[in-house]
Amino acid sequence: MSQAKMEDIISLCKRRGFIYQGSDVYGGLSGTWDYGPLGVQLKRNIMNLWWRMFVDERDDMYGVDAAILMNQKVWEASGHVDTFVDPLCEDVVNHRRYRTDHILKDNGVDADGLTMEQMDELIAEKGIKSPDGNLLSKSRTFNMMFKTFVGPSGGDSIEIGKDVEGAIVPKGKTIYALQYNPTSISYLRPETAQGIFTNFKNVVDSFYPNLPFGIAQQGKAFRNEIAPRDFVFRSREFEQMEIEYFVMPPNRDGRSHEKGEKHLWEEAFAELLEKTHEFLEALGLNPDNIHELDVPAEDRAHYSDKTTDIEYDFPIGKEELMGIAYRTNFDLENIQRVSGKSMKYTIKGTNEKFVPHVIEPSFGVERVLMAVLSNAYREDEQNGEKRVYLALPEHLAPVKFAVSPLLKNKPELVEKAREIYANLSKKNPGRVMWDDNGNIGKRYRRQDEIGTPHCVVVDFQTLEDDTVTVRERDTTEQRRVDVKDFIR
Ligand code: GAP
Repeated sequence: MSQAKMEDIISLCKRRGFIYQGSDVYGGLSGTWDYGPLGVQLKRNIMNLWWRMFVDERDDMYGVDAAILMNQKVWEASGHVDTFVDPLCEDVVNHRRYRTDHILKDNGVDADGLTMEQMDELIAEKGIKSPDGNLLSKSRTFNMMFKTFVGPSGGDSIEIGKDVEGAIVPKGKTIYALQYNPTSISYLRPETAQGIFTNFKNVVDSFYPNLPFGIAQQGKAFRNEIAPRDFVFRSREFEQMEIEYFVMPPNRDGRSHEKGEKHLWEEAFAELLEKTHEFLEALGLNPDNIHELDVPAEDRAHYSDKTTDIEYDFPIGKEELMGIAYRTNFDLENIQRVSGKSMKYTIKGTNEKFVPHVIEPSFGVERVLMAVLSNAYREDEQNGEKRVYLALPEHLAPVKFAVSPLLKNKPELVEKAREIYANLSKKNPGRVMWDDNGNIGKRYRRQDEIGTPHCVVVDFQTLEDDTVTVRERDTTEQRRVDVKDFIR
């Protein structure tokens, strides 16, 4: 497990401008988080790396950026309206609500794969109470999608008068109620995947790629989690990076297990899993903390015939970082059924038509970011003092270089440092920080805490021979470097 403690990471994130509680000034909004200047940069670096490795460096991937609000039929067809639910139970005295499997987990019982009824039985059998010591209700399902209304549907108000049965209207008053048009109902998307599936036909019509090919998307997803917890790990608003990789169906690919062959979807699954490991390596994550879990059938999402989760040793324990699922033709078949439009792909130059099958690697950005932060968090001792630093890989660090004049009251040093700062910034836009606050030791500590790999200090020798001191974060070593070589 990671050596970093969650509370240390949360405190550093807030103190140093990575991540703040959402709506903090009003007492917060549970399950929402705001990214500060350094958090934005770190998140972008992670997302850009993913896009580069999974989309830009391949010729079989196409990017989309679909609307968050989608026609309600999307979520009916995908099964989310009926099945995107978690088990909810309630404290019968104070009516606080809990996720039943979390209540069991917090009492040392693994609820993976259990039905809601089995969970209720276990709670009764073991006499498990709510965290406030009260009895718990039987569980019911709770749909995690945020519902909303599109357009001015509230404008069609109806008058509630004495002729409306059951309405209590104060004498002489007219009360208006909003009448929602049921077709105006929409949902904040709980996964980015559906924005990919609904664009499958568009991309095929525009580009006609050869199979196999993938469509990738990054963007916000929303889930009304019963119990958001563990910092950004389980939030109500978060970001996903997903790919739907379309392959030939197993009954058409001419492969057979009997002959010891793998189906094309299995090959694609293995390739994307390998690529995932390459990405995790490029993030600098310690491979000892990365684990594969073949998810048993009873724990898989309703659409999946095979899922491999990548679990990571977070400070909160071993938990899901991302997952790869074989979604078969579940989604495209459902779109075809509900929309009445063909989702068939025709092999070029033939009449061979079929609805492709799909492999889906799905990453949560916040979980990747949490893994990166907990992997990088270090404490050591320098000159008898505790030091905290983030050993972030240079390509992820929000700030690559901090530039300082040794003394901020010496105009000649400031001028030279400003010149170097400007040149470095041109080469590394947005990744260079000017820092002349406090003494040099304090600047180093501050930069260490935000993971800046190199601190550049301009001193009197710089004015004579155009060299600077570069101090390295991890080793604290200082080198004398020629400015020309350095800025190249
Ligand atoms: N399209 C498939 C899908 O959405 P999922 O396992 O429900 O699958 C994929 O979610 C990834 O999204 C998870 O592995 C996790 O990294 C991230 N994720 C899911 N719920 C989350 C939440 N409430 N907060 C932060 N990340 C979440």
